[in-house]
Amino acid sequence: MEKNIKWWKNALVYQIYPLSFKDSNSDGVGDLKGIISKLDYLKSYGVDVVWLSPVYESPMDDNGYDISDYTKVNPLFGTMEDLQELIDGLHSRGMKLIMDLVVNHTSDEHIWFKEALNNPNSKYHDYYIWNKEAKPEIGSVFSGSAWEYVEHLDKYYFHLFSRRQPDLNWHNKEMREEIYQMINSWLDKGVDGFRMDVIELIGKDVLNGKIGDGPYLETYLFEMWERCFKGRDIMNIGEMGGISQERAGELTSIENSGLHMTFQFSHLSVDQEAWKSKWHIKPVDFKELKNVFIKNHEIFKEKGWNSLFLSNHDQPRQISRFGDENYRVKSGQMLFLMIYGQKGTPYVYQGEEIGMTGIKFDDLKSYKDVETLNWYKEATQLGWPHERIMKSIYSKGRDNSRTPFQWNNKPFAGFSDVKPWLEVNPNYQTINAELELNDDDSVYHFSKRLFEIRKAFDVFTDGEFKCLDQEASSTFIYKRFNQTHEALIITNLTNKEQEIHLEEIKGFSIVLSNYDIKLSKRMILPPYAAILSIKGV
Ligand code: GLC
Repeated sequence: MEKNIKWWKNALVYQIYPLSFKDSNSDGVGDLKGIISKLDYLKSYGVDVVWLSPVYESPMDDNGYDISDYTKVNPLFGTMEDLQELIDGLHSRGMKLIMDLVVNHTSDEHIWFKEALNNPNSKYHDYYIWNKEAKPEIGSVFSGSAWEYVEHLDKYYFHLFSRRQPDLNWHNKEMREEIYQMINSWLDKGVDGFRMDVIELIGKDVLNGKIGDGPYLETYLFEMWERCFKGRDIMNIGEMGGISQERAGELTSIENSGLHMTFQFSHLSVDQEAWKSKWHIKPVDFKELKNVFIKNHEIFKEKGWNSLFLSNHDQPRQISRFGDENYRVKSGQMLFLMIYGQKGTPYVYQGEEIGMTGIKFDDLKSYKDVETLNWYKEATQLGWPHERIMKSIYSKGRDNSRTPFQWNNKPFAGFSDVKPWLEVNPNYQTINAELELNDDDSVYHFSKRLFEIRKAFDVFTDGEFKCLDQEASSTFIYKRFNQTHEALIITNLTNKEQEIHLEEIKGFSIVLSNYDIKLSKRMILPPYAAILSIKGV
């Protein structure tokens, strides 16, 4: 029987962070033409959808997440013609493009904000959030207060991120209509959907201190769906770092939320101290990690849809965080199978497919990320010694995943022929795409093969999930099954051998593995082993 599976459920989504992907005009900054030159690379890896981080006009205080004109392309990245060429180039290869939609805030250089500042009687003043006092007391995600004083107006504006990213006032109907118009104009250009930046925050009620998953979230999402998304065959993913897993299930099961899936962050707090900021690090708790995944499968069993990801431009590199740089290839391969054997749409962040790792700059000056630099100042004021701050930055700083893509072993890793905006990771001599592609045992080939298998068997898309070793913290073994197939995923999460016992292996054959190994009821798994078996093939 023909199944009716929505295309975005088994699409492989690849995130491009344009600043760091490929520089085509020798200015040290990645650009659209650079991306266009790599479309065959993406196609041959198996990419179906590219999610492009923002390329709109921006003063780049937060690397493009501070937009000064939603309708223009940042000249740093190219022109509108280049963007159209990218869309057409993707479409002609059977791939799609989703853009970043950043509408919780604008840049302070957006004409709306400039008008709001210069002319408090203009209609744009109310496009932003103001108060006479810096109250209620709310902290910015990027350190310090979320209220910024404007002397000539004698009041404060609200910014949850940098002070150069004033939050929009979603209660203003005219502002919302302008945003909807802008969204429609991008969809009409051929864009296939959006990754909606911190979208849960548009529902906030600031003056009553309600920020995450706020009281107006559904109201505005429903309206946006009605005005923009209804009837269009697109895919939207809402970044919702602060919502619960249950809410993610709920929101993605309502058609008019406009959200096909969310980025929900429960699995990313397993290496930070409870109730503290991300900078308060602790070793990864793998049992907690597994429990988050297990719960996801319960929640999404009947309704809604999930996304699968371990890293992005805000998160550390997955090998450095959940794997082991000393077992870079094996642990990199294991992480791919561990996460993408699960149910949900897979998202790969640029560079993960070639097993890139995090960065440790000696000098604070090498860091460019506004969040990291603000944190350094805040932590100093809190009395943290330099070494402790640097340790937290080494493990959690956002520049970890933003260093230029390592294409080959030529100067600047083949990313550019001049010094890039952010230093290249010095390990590019041994970790780069050229080497990975030429090595059959690489992270690249293992993961490419995994995605081929994922597409060949529906069980990975619609199959149920059952964890076979819930109590174990060193291994993650689970099954996926539907009416036609059964898949068995075995992973060793550690750098030590692990003995495991399996009840039922009859009929299973290994289809992918990072060791030459046989399936048996009692097995000794080598470090970071990753074994995928399917029954009846
Ligand atoms: C999202 C983006 C992040 C950005 C923030 C503010 O979390 O992924 O990079 O700094 O929103 O737009």
